[in-house]
Amino acid sequence: MKIIEVKDYMEMSQKAAEYIIEKVCNQPNIKLGMATGGTPVGMYKKLVEDHQKNGTSYKKVMTFNLDEYIGLNGDNKNSYRYYMNENLFNHIDIDKKRNTFIPRGDIKDYNEECLRYEDLIDKHGGVDVQILGIGNNGHIGFNEPGTSFQSVTHVVNLASSTIQANARFFERMEEVPTQAITMGISTIMRSKEILLLVSGESKNQALHSLLNGEITESFPASILKNHPCVTIIADKAAIAGLKIHI
Ligand code: PGA
Repeated sequence: MKIIEVKDYMEMSQKAAEYIIEKVCNQPNIKLGMATGGTPVGMYKKLVEDHQKNGTSYKKVMTFNLDEYIGLNGDNKNSYRYYMNENLFNHIDIDKKRNTFIPRGDIKDYNEECLRYEDLIDKHGGVDVQILGIGNNGHIGFNEPGTSFQSVTHVVNLASSTIQANARFFERMEEVPTQAITMGISTIMRSKEILLLVSGESKNQALHSLLNGEITESFPASILKNHPCVTIIADKAAIAGLKIHI
């Protein structure tokens, strides 16, 4: 794993955007794996700014998001489809209808949707660069502690710590979804490259466990140590005090 240490959230966002822009310029039909949550918002903002200023084109880019809440449709402002449209897709020249994929959280047969999504990724040749955040409990996507490293796209019951962490985006606690569809850990591990973004003191412990702990299903992100091409961009607050043994 390669670690790039940056000053703060702004610099992490800038560096991450530069990383993605370079990939898109070198491979215009790249398949990007997208993440949501608080961490990548700044990176998406920088991608939009770059598109407006420098014209980096996403016409041939395809995107596959990690996950989606069950029970929310794309018009719901807390769905990840809405998040992606608002933060990125509506502001760049990507073919939103044909080339952006997110699991559907609003259909009846979730298991069928999981199979379809996994298949869709494979049919398009897999993800080239997967962007990831990390949960305080080590989750990647919505793969909570205890998820099998062999898992493919599946339905998950969210850990109560994740529900708590997500509550800040919802007006009432009862509105916070308790289930989601997520790419599995083996789905994530099949991507050719991984870009992991880590910012803030609250992620310090998670980064410490990732870098210095053992590889265990109790800490899903630990599997990333087995991936041949991982770049971590972490800010000072996330790295503070860490002795890194990798
Ligand atoms: P966050 O979430 O970016 O909102 O901290 C990261 C994650 O849970 O994967």
